[in-house]
Amino acid sequence: MSSPADRPVVRILTLFPDMIRAVLGTSILGRAEKQGQVRYEVTDIRDFAVDKHRTVDDTAYGGGAGMIMMAPPIVEAVEAVRKNDEATVILTTPQGRLLDEDLTLDLRNELETVGELILVCGHYKGIDERARELVVTREVSIGDYVLTGGELPALVVTDAIVRRMEGVLHNDESANNDSFTDRREGGLDCQWYTKPPEYRGLGVPAILLSGHHAKIEQWRAAQAAERTRIRRPDLVAPDPGGNGNDDADG
Ligand code: 6GU
Repeated sequence: MSSPADRPVVRILTLFPDMIRAVLGTSILGRAEKQGQVRYEVTDIRDFAVDKHRTVDDTAYGGGAGMIMMAPPIVEAVEAVRKNDEATVILTTPQGRLLDEDLTLDLRNELETVGELILVCGHYKGIDERARELVVTREVSIGDYVLTGGELPALVVTDAIVRRMEGVLHNDESANNDSFTDRREGGLDCQWYTKPPEYRGLGVPAILLSGHHAKIEQWRAAQAAERTRIRRPDLVAPDPGGNGNDDADG
């Protein structure tokens, strides 16, 4: 087992540390830390406020509704917790690069090579541009909608990364054929069934009860491809012959 000092650490800087800790202590993310695969360090940005009222935001220069997170607490907090100048510092913002499985793997690799990854939870109205300029190296969004703060996105990013770390998922296979993975060629996963064999008159596809493992794998791959075509045609590479099948009903 690795010692706490040498396993990768995800540092989350936030105005709501309790919200972050509650999630990171639960389920698979919590288990990953207990098993020693990763460590989480949550820092309250307010502890780095520079005035006696512990102010972390203020109105925008030039006017406009909404508060802006001040640069000094963010910059001081990042510099205080960062152990390695090469560490990726992510700002969660709706203006960032959209998170997908490719970006997730890049971030996991950066976490593992450098040994730390820093996430700064932004405020929906934003942070002072100078904080971004001084310490942020990547900006990440989790979708084209606006949330009240960057905490949920930071947790989403952390979850996506940690579940791709070696040994975190108990059945190592299951991370590799989920939706969006290479095994599914960047598309969606197939449908799944478990006991009971019949429920409210609905059975299970007979092939799954057949015991023919090769045929079952073939069926699953075909179902996955079909689901992807119907639900997420944007994920399917366009037909180079221009003879794309574009009927929507499947
Ligand atoms: Cl990263 N932050 C906020 N505040 N809203 C978002 C987001 C991030 N990604 C999508 N919406």
